[in-house]
Amino acid sequence: MSIHRHTYPTAREAAEACAKFILLRLEDALSGESNATLALSGGETPRPMFEVLAKADLDWSRVHLFWVDERAVPPNSPASNYHAAEENLIRPARIPRRNVHRIPAELRPEAAAARYSDDIRDFFGLSEGEMPHFDVIHRGLGADGHTASLFPGDPLIEDRERIAAAVYVEKLGQFRITLLPGVLMAARHTVFLVTGADKAQAVRAVFHEPYDPKQHPGQVVSHHGRNIVWFLDDQAAALLD
Ligand code: 6PG
Repeated sequence: MSIHRHTYPTAREAAEACAKFILLRLEDALSGESNATLALSGGETPRPMFEVLAKADLDWSRVHLFWVDERAVPPNSPASNYHAAEENLIRPARIPRRNVHRIPAELRPEAAAARYSDDIRDFFGLSEGEMPHFDVIHRGLGADGHTASLFPGDPLIEDRERIAAAVYVEKLGQFRITLLPGVLMAARHTVFLVTGADKAQAVRAVFHEPYDPKQHPGQVVSHHGRNIVWFLDDQAAALLD
């Protein structure tokens, strides 16, 4: 297992470095396999990362995109994680539609999670109980410590069996669909992109609080995944030793 942490003066530089790292991992994967797989997170932080990815000279026709989590909104909603990637990455990079495996969040949340799990099982050819090995999973971290849509205290953080689930996020009054820890832990590479002063406390907790992923979901993977790289800006890293 290896965990690396890189800190940059600005959020843009962190996002650029993260994008470049993802591209290297995808190129590596494509040199040995016919397809590479990338699972993206949403929120605001990755937008500049998407822009760098979109300009890259990568054979996107062989890269399949998935999502780490999604809000229960239709794909054309400005709140949709898919929508942000569509505008900033999929369309500009002309990624073929057949390579885009979005979470069908316009369905009822449970149905969306079930359909998405089936999609993943089909694509990876998984048998019952098997986990997919994404080449790269990109994750963010919320100021409250959530990652993917695993919020502190959620019993789903202990679910290592299933692929995806619907979650009701009380404080947001919103359903979300999220990949579960078994999938996050099975990734070949995990990258975290976390920037901004409001994230400093949550970043500190991941690294300096005792291992308790139920309280600090960012610790899911960080303690038993492989090949994990954190890309931070100075502000998000401000409380680290
Ligand atoms: C989402 C994300 C989520 C995100 C964090 C950070 O749907 O919001 O996938 O897990 O990574 O909430 O979001 P920001 O980048 O907006 O702070």
